[in-house]
Amino acid sequence: MSSSNHINFKQYLASVKLAGESVPAGLQELLTAVVKTCATLSHEVAQGALIGLLGSAGTGNVQGEVQQKLDIIANDLLIEGVQSCQSLAGLASEEMEFPLPAQGTGDYLLLFDPLDGSSNIDVNVSIGTIFSVLNKQDPNAPLQTSDFLLSGRHQVAAGYVVYGPQTTMALTLGDGVVMFTLNKVNGTFLLIKNKVKISHSTKEFAINMSNMRHWADPVRRYVEECLAGVSGTRDKDFNMRWIASMVADVHRVLSRGGVFMYPWDQREPHKPGKLRLMYEANPMSFLVEQAGGASTNGTDLIMDLQPTDLHERVSVMLGSKEEIDRIQHYHSSSAHR
Ligand code: AHG
Ligand code: MN
Ligand code: MN
Repeated sequence: MSSSNHINFKQYLASVKLAGESVPAGLQELLTAVVKTCATLSHEVAQGALIGLLGSAGTGNVQGEVQQKLDIIANDLLIEGVQSCQSLAGLASEEMEFPLPAQGTGDYLLLFDPLDGSSNIDVNVSIGTIFSVLNKQDPNAPLQTSDFLLSGRHQVAAGYVVYGPQTTMALTLGDGVVMFTLNKVNGTFLLIKNKVKISHSTKEFAINMSNMRHWADPVRRYVEECLAGVSGTRDKDFNMRWIASMVADVHRVLSRGGVFMYPWDQREPHKPGKLRLMYEANPMSFLVEQAGGASTNGTDLIMDLQPTDLHERVSVMLGSKEEIDRIQHYHSSSAHR
């Protein structure tokens, strides 16, 4: 099919109905700005060393992680791209300790992981951008960090853009999941998939196996049973994939089913996990639920968690429903987390 058979992102936003209503103009404005910035970022990412964007920036972020040059470039581009949106009240990012008020008078809040998969930048493996949109509860009060601390159920939109062999975006506005691919010739995102569904059962899982000795018993049990294959209790052979960019791993789960896990482990027992709730786990959980999958921290659905900190971390297990139900069952029937 040629590009001319696909509607573009703007046409999609203008035509889609949510419970019979059009997408609010302010949300269209904000999402259009995010997506336009991601198209620019895709172009930058593709240039890599040619424009000097590989390597470490030599700085650290609020999480104590070393920032890559591209982490900072992506963050700056996104701020620049959305800050003048009339509908935007404020934004928050993995790379900034505090939220930033925007110039608009509207009541949307934008959260993002500007560049996910930092360890893959320099080795030319898929990376991406993750975003989440909330409504500020009190539009007239000055912006505060607490405005962002809403559970994932409050999200009005969420998505990611994965910069891989193709630049592809997954988006939910709370009525299913759609996917777009960037036409790199003219910089427009074109609709490639409607009603994305995650198969309920799967034979594929993704986890950083090098941490196995640190996992809690229920996670170890689940993975050991997958590894036992046809000769074990699962009666089927599993395949393992691990890209180490959440965007790319979740994109695979949305595309052909599977389970993605970054669970709590005992290296840092007081940390709930590695991934961040507000701009990694929540938007991905919204997408996964909207595609018929599930997302849990072991005991609760991630979308139900009440955040207490902008940069809080969470244990994440998401994907095909049957597997997530099983993982939750292993947690509830174990004495150890
Ligand atoms: P970020 O680059 O935004 O810090 O996120 C990286 C995350 C996530 O994308 C991935 O699943 C995980 O870190 C990989 O971590 P390890 O390779 O350290 O296990
Ligand atoms: Mn990330
Ligand atoms: Mn990041």
